[in-house]
Amino acid sequence: MSYDYLVVGSGLFGSTFAYEAAKRGKRVKVIDKRDHIGGNIYTENIEGINVHKYGAHIFHTNNKEIWDYVNQFAEFNRYTNSPVANYKGQIYNLPFNMNTFNKLWGVITPEEAKNKIEAQRKAINIEKPKNLEEQAISLVGTDIYEKLIKGYTEKQWGRKATELPSFIIKRLPVRFTYDNNYFNDRYQGIPIGGYTQIIEKMLSSELIDVELNRDFFSNREEYIESYPRIVYTGMIDQFFDYKYGELEYRSLQFESSLLDQENYQGNAVVNYTDAETPFTRIIEHKHFEFGNQPKTLITKEFPKTWKKGDEPYYPVNDDNNSEKFRKYRKLAEEQPNVIFGGRLGMYQYYDMHQVIAAALSLAKKELS
Ligand code: FDA
Repeated sequence: MSYDYLVVGSGLFGSTFAYEAAKRGKRVKVIDKRDHIGGNIYTENIEGINVHKYGAHIFHTNNKEIWDYVNQFAEFNRYTNSPVANYKGQIYNLPFNMNTFNKLWGVITPEEAKNKIEAQRKAINIEKPKNLEEQAISLVGTDIYEKLIKGYTEKQWGRKATELPSFIIKRLPVRFTYDNNYFNDRYQGIPIGGYTQIIEKMLSSELIDVELNRDFFSNREEYIESYPRIVYTGMIDQFFDYKYGELEYRSLQFESSLLDQENYQGNAVVNYTDAETPFTRIIEHKHFEFGNQPKTLITKEFPKTWKKGDEPYYPVNDDNNSEKFRKYRKLAEEQPNVIFGGRLGMYQYYDMHQVIAAALSLAKKELS
């Protein structure tokens, strides 16, 4: 069987590209080293609950074209992301908004809240923030920083806020309305029945063959010789045998438990913002789809330093890694017949709507 494309990785990027290629009559082989399709948006059904196996995924976008595109593959519900923060047993609404300020200080009006934040910023009087702590305080004052930012951020990055660069927090969403909707985007929701169906439909063409448990690197020379074009969505540094060193990531460890109770925390996402609790959040998956199953499944997220073999989740885009990536990118541009894409191929944090947009843009360029 001869193919026009080999797609390495059946995540959202690879699958969108494969779907577009097959639509234009191309034959595509998709390989993935995991034992399932979907990459990180894979959802697994346990006890009737769609479990977001690689972390909570909420689709959101302002782009109507992308929203219509993804809606071809699934019907989306009206889920609105409204996480809450648990700080030492006290619950606060996120993102920071009038509900949060009322709970923190008892203020009622936006003006009272603004005055409170302004007074705290003035009292500290930071002109040029030298680190993340100073940056955060200069944006939102000490109370919000101490209760809702400090512990969470330090756990996430594994370093003290005073040792983290200020650029990590450029802006902090502060809203002076009683609105707990985390995203400002016009469209948002969760596919009813989970995300895996989207990938299944994308890969359902008879022009596409999928092979799981296939690592590109176990057969790399043969793949490169026998396929005219390759779309590679794995790690870019690995493709070049880590020639310039490893690109760094932050990783996560997930600990899931199936509980014999209907409702554990009353919300899909609860952030633990104190420093002592070792995890950053608990996800209760059924609430993404308003489930009323008799049991519930929860997942605790523990941030951790990435080392080879761990799942690479969040790229660490500091100067050192950005410089390394630029060098790899140059090699990638010189590599004949291999196109690098997706979050690992581009060493970039992409939301799902951005991944679809990037894959569609590649398809347009490559296939027209
Ligand atoms: P992805 O990693 O999904 O796919 C790559 C595939 O390639 C994988 O299946 C992998 O197994 C395979 N592969 C790699 N190397 C290979 C090799 N050598 N051989 C064969 N196969 C190989 N976005 C959003 O819009 N809303 C949200 O709420 C979230 N939430 C979220 C939480 C967490 C914890 C993370 C880390 C990310 C998010 N995202 C998100 C982002 C979202 O996960 C992301 O946009 C897409 O999954 C990226 O799709 P890709 O196809 O680029 O990569």
